[in-house]
This record gives sequence, C-alpha cells and structure tokens, in this order.
Amino acid sequence: MFSLKDKTVVVTGGGKGIGRGIALALARCGAQVVVSGRDAAALDATVADLQALGAHALAVPGDITQHSGRQGLIDATLARFGALHGWINNAGSAAPADVGPLDTIDEGQWDRVMDLNLKAAFFAAQAAARAMAAGTGRGGSIVNISSRSASYPNPGTGHYGAAKAALENLTRTMAAEWGHLGIRVNAVAPGVVMTDELARTLNTPERIRRQVDTVPLQRLGTPDDIGPLCAYLVSDESAWTSGALIPVNGGSFVPMGYLSYLHRVNQQAT
Ligand SMILES: NC(=O)c1ccc[n+]([C@@H]2O[C@H](COP(=O)([O-])OP(=O)(O)OC[C@H]3O[C@@H](n4cnc5c(N)ncnc54)[C@H](OP(=O)(O)O)[C@@H]3O)[C@@H](O)[C@H]2O)c1
Repeated sequence: MFSLKDKTVVVTGGGKGIGRGIALALARCGAQVVVSGRDAAALDATVADLQALGAHALAVPGDITQHSGRQGLIDATLARFGALHGWINNAGSAAPADVGPLDTIDEGQWDRVMDLNLKAAFFAAQAAARAMAAGTGRGGSIVNISSRSASYPNPGTGHYGAAKAALENLTRTMAAEWGHLGIRVNAVAPGVVMTDELARTLNTPERIRRQVDTVPLQRLGTPDDIGPLCAYLVSDESAWTSGALIPVNGGSFVPMGYLSYLHRVNQQAT
C-alpha cells in the first residue's frame, strides 16, 4: 500500500458504508483521518476503529449540505491537524422517499437529491480547495465519489444519476482550474457496493442474484473495495493523475436501477 504518513485526509460521510471503508483504508496507509456526517454515534465508532489501527482520527459531526457544516469541518480539521492534504467527497445518497420515476419526482425530492449529491459536493470541494491553496504545502488531492449511475440511464433514480453526471463533469473542470495550485481532482465511480443502507432495499436473495448476474467478477462490491483506490489517489504516487473518472464495479456496466425497472415493467406486462 501507499504511504500516507503525515497526510491529513477528510472523508465526508465517513462514519458508515463506503465512507467508513475509505477511512479505514486511509488509516491503514498511515493517514490522519477526519470523518464527518450527521450521526455522531457512527462517527465515534469509526474513530475508535481508526485508532485501533494506530491512526490519529477525529470525528466532526455536521450536515454537509449546510455552509456551516462544511466550514466547521474545515476549521476543526485545521485546528486539530494544522493542514489538509486530501478530501474524499463521499457523503451522498438518494433516500427511498426521494426517488421514483421521473414523471413522479416533485421539486422537494429533486432539491434534496441535488443538494446533497451535487451542490454540497461542489461547495465542499471548493472549501477544501481553498484550504489546500492557503496551506503551507503545495496543493492537495480531492476525490469525488460518483457512481456508475453517472454514465447510464437510471430509471427510478434519474435525478441522482444526473447529479453524479454533473459531479463528474465538474471534476474535470475543477482539475483544469485548480491544477496550477497543485490541487488534483479525480472521481471514483462505484458499481453496486453492499452497505447496511443498501441492504434495506437489496434485501432478497433474488434481488441480490439479479445484480450479481451482471457482474463479470461474480460478486457485489464491499466498502473495502473502494478505499484502496482513494488511498492511491491521495498519495504522492498518483501525482500526475487528475481529472480522471475511474470505475470500480467488478467489470459491470449495467446500471442497478435499469435492471430493476425492466424487471418491474416486464412483470407488469405479463
Ligand atoms: N453503495 C453503492 O452501491 C454506491 C454505488 C455508487 C455510488 N455510491 C456513492 O458512494 C457514496 C457513499 O454511499 P454509501 O452507499 O456508503 O451510502 P450510505 O451507506 O447511505 O452512507 C451515506 C453517507 O453519507 C452521509 N450523509 C448523508 N447525508 C449527509 C448530510 N446531509 N451531511 C453529512 N453526511 C451525510 C451519511 O452519514 P450520516 O448518516 O451520518 O449523515 C453516510 O455516511 C455516495 O456518494 C453514494 O452516492 C454508492
């Protein structure tokens, strides 16, 4: 693994799911890790796990969709560790109450999904870039956690896919505009990664099998599958990598929502 010794890295949404897996991978590489999210208990549990790996770790509870949450996270990180080298823009999701076919989506659902997955992600990256540019080191590395949904039709979660597609586009503009500051910006696009949250909906052997059947590597992802790439993208070994959009999906390019949608429509037709 790459050495992240003396690097301070923030993981938004680092208390659960993929973010927790990323935080653990960063800690295994020697980073000082800051995890944020709204659920303070989950953050504390993750910090305990990070410390058990020998890492310096900090939990900063807060809502990433609020300016105060983003700035509070930057301020707490700098107060504790004095510098910011990496920022994993992982917080994101589309709550079951906020998804549905496009002809049913209302403005509240649209706004909640866009606010978290696009607006908060952008302004978090902007805040991180400003802190990195103002630091004594030269630049830093920002990793936007996108999704396979960014690149394909997403029946049932169309606005989520659109938010991730916009985030990928912004990733390349950020990389272009901030490269001269030594700030690299890349995106990682996971396929289906089984988290506690996803297990609430992907909750029958048949549903899981339908997804696994689309994966050439014959299994769903785990949070441990995403972290090592993020560690590489934060490390100095990736010093000439910026503006990259990297899929991590077991070789599967079949969107999850598409499959479920076709299954439902075909069932209704029979
Ligand atoms: N799982 C997958 O199959 C999959 C596939 C492709 C892409 N992704 C992307 O991977 C990232 C992580 O997803 P996941 O599956 O690990 O999701 P998850 O288990 O639902 O976790 C979502 C994370 O985001 C945080 N979060 C949500 N709203 C927040 C807010 N307003 N302020 C601060 N933190 C907030 C949550 O923390 P709190 O609850 O503590 O606030 C939690 O840590 C997301 O960007 C998601 O779009 C996931």
